[in-house]
Amino acid sequence: MRKKIVAGNWKMNMTFDEGQKLTSEIVNMYKDENVKDVVAILNPPFPHIFPVKKLIGGVEGISLGAQNCSDKEAGAFTGEVSAKIIASFGVEYVILGHSERREYFQEDNEILATKVKEALANGLKPIFCCGESLDIRTAGTHEPNVKFQLTQSLFDLSPEDFSKITIAYEPIWAIGTGKTATADQAQEMHAALRRHIASHYGKEIADNTSILYGGSCNPKNAQEIFSKPDVDGGLIGGASLKSRDFVDIIKSF
Ligand code: G3P
Repeated sequence: MRKKIVAGNWKMNMTFDEGQKLTSEIVNMYKDENVKDVVAILNPPFPHIFPVKKLIGGVEGISLGAQNCSDKEAGAFTGEVSAKIIASFGVEYVILGHSERREYFQEDNEILATKVKEALANGLKPIFCCGESLDIRTAGTHEPNVKFQLTQSLFDLSPEDFSKITIAYEPIWAIGTGKTATADQAQEMHAALRRHIASHYGKEIADNTSILYGGSCNPKNAQEIFSKPDVDGGLIGGASLKSRDFVDIIKSF
């Protein structure tokens, strides 16, 4: 049975005090409201990782993720953070291939394939982001476009390694815009990606791969989106910065 996952991508937000307050509120709500069978992942900016880990420590069902990792193993790469260093702090997941990394930091499918391998080699579980631009969606070529991102960055992996991947489908035109994909649009792409995975790795691995939706997901629309058979949760940006909203999204299944 594939996992239900709601990951909160804080992006470049939250001072130390704000991050500690947000994390404490989420942990308390998650425990007090007895959330079951949904993995909640917090993906803060790097400096938060150690203090957030201490707050979520042993809470069953809440995990820690990073927002990126270097494609390099170690050494003279000023400013970079390696998968090995990230994993040494007890981080389990890492977001890779986010459209903002692809756009602003020129991360292409080749660099991302290397990052995925670095993450896996150090015991991290990648949350691999894919998604199309508005132009591609308007042209109606979104399915082959997004499938290609998976093929180029992931399909060299062994079946065992691919089994550690979570996919996040984030239509770029829905990120931060308030213009969410409809539940049917999400389901259509998720089902296409699952078929694509099955064509390469077989039905069992495809059926066990969690595919998350991201792009203006909030407490009002999460329930309908998460009700679709091939949607296994969400990768949440803005709404993850408010504890009540984030926990309400987790409870939307
Ligand atoms: O990684 C999740 C993010 O890209 C979605 O952002 O603010 O549209 O939920 P938002």
